Amino acid sequence: LRIAVLFGGRSAEHDVSVLSATNVMRALEPAKYDAVPIFVTREGQWLLSHFDNGVLAKPASGTQISLVPGGHGRMVAISAEGKMSDAGTIDILFPVLHGLHGEDGSVQGLAEVARVPLAGCGILGSATALDKDIAKPLLRAAGLPVARSVTIHKDAAPDLAVLEGELGLPLFIKPARQGSSVGVRKVSGSQEFAPALVEGFQHDGKLLAEEYVAGREIEFSVLEDPKGGLFVSRPGEIIPAESHGFYSYNAKYIDEDGAALKVPAELPPEVEAEMRAAAARAFRALGCDAMARVDFFLTTGMTFVVNEVNTIPGFTDISMYSKAMAASGVSYAEIIERLIAHGLT
Ligand code: DAL
Ligand code: MG
Repeated sequence: LRIAVLFGGRSAEHDVSVLSATNVMRALEPAKYDAVPIFVTREGQWLLSHFDNGVLAKPASGTQISLVPGGHGRMVAISAEGKMSDAGTIDILFPVLHGLHGEDGSVQGLAEVARVPLAGCGILGSATALDKDIAKPLLRAAGLPVARSVTIHKDAAPDLAVLEGELGLPLFIKPARQGSSVGVRKVSGSQEFAPALVEGFQHDGKLLAEEYVAGREIEFSVLEDPKGGLFVSRPGEIIPAESHGFYSYNAKYIDEDGAALKVPAELPPEVEAEMRAAAARAFRALGCDAMARVDFFLTTGMTFVVNEVNTIPGFTDISMYSKAMAASGVSYAEIIERLIAHGLT
């Protein structure tokens, strides 16, 4: 089975994607899979990569790869000198890209146009889940609680006093379409508001001001089987270090002690059951298929809100998605097998 693994990408989560894809490559046994890694540069070019001694190459230039529309996986290679040649066909495309231009339906649409099977969530679920401003009303309409928020567009940023009146303080300012907490700031007073907007708008033209929900961060992995049944994992809990205040990009990826993962999280059984059902409902409400990680905040009063749904969650073997699946009896290799089987169906 020839499988193209796309990684890197144009989003701010480029480096996170490299980590995720390195683990995917390690798990794709050469005896079973002919894996073709394709590095997506920060500019969006697809360059033929290779995987040696556990390391994924990130070429600065070289052979460009293109999928042919209607080609059922046929690829064309364009050498650095501009010479075109046939690069054979792939059986399935596996995007391991986080954020915009990869987790947002764009690459999923490309697979559809190329008529090649896709591992992971399709166009619609990818697009709705990535945009928190679009996801919220869909979740709410499905009867799921979400944190209150106000959408902020560049041309009409509201006063902090207005936001405070609606959401209280502190509040979060976050880009509507970003992952890994890139561009997210906690705002406790007016001196932090303007810099938070500046930071947020560097990452997206649309921001959310969101109420602060004090609570535990609980996450579930959802994996759809080829017949459409949903497997929802045991819960995992993120415990950010006190020093970070919230589960920021630094706490996630830079500071090794930035956060601890507790899997399975300790929850009263009835709360776990309710949240698992809510995770499945959130997955359906956003039109997801194949895979997603559904993130919640759980208050001390045992009420919860759905924070977000990630259709290509952090995907290393020590990421929450795989840890929660492992705690539920599904190994990392098995997740990948199931995703591929789902895509080929
Ligand atoms: N956006 C990151 C990769 C996550 O949700 O895990
Ligand atoms: Mg995320």
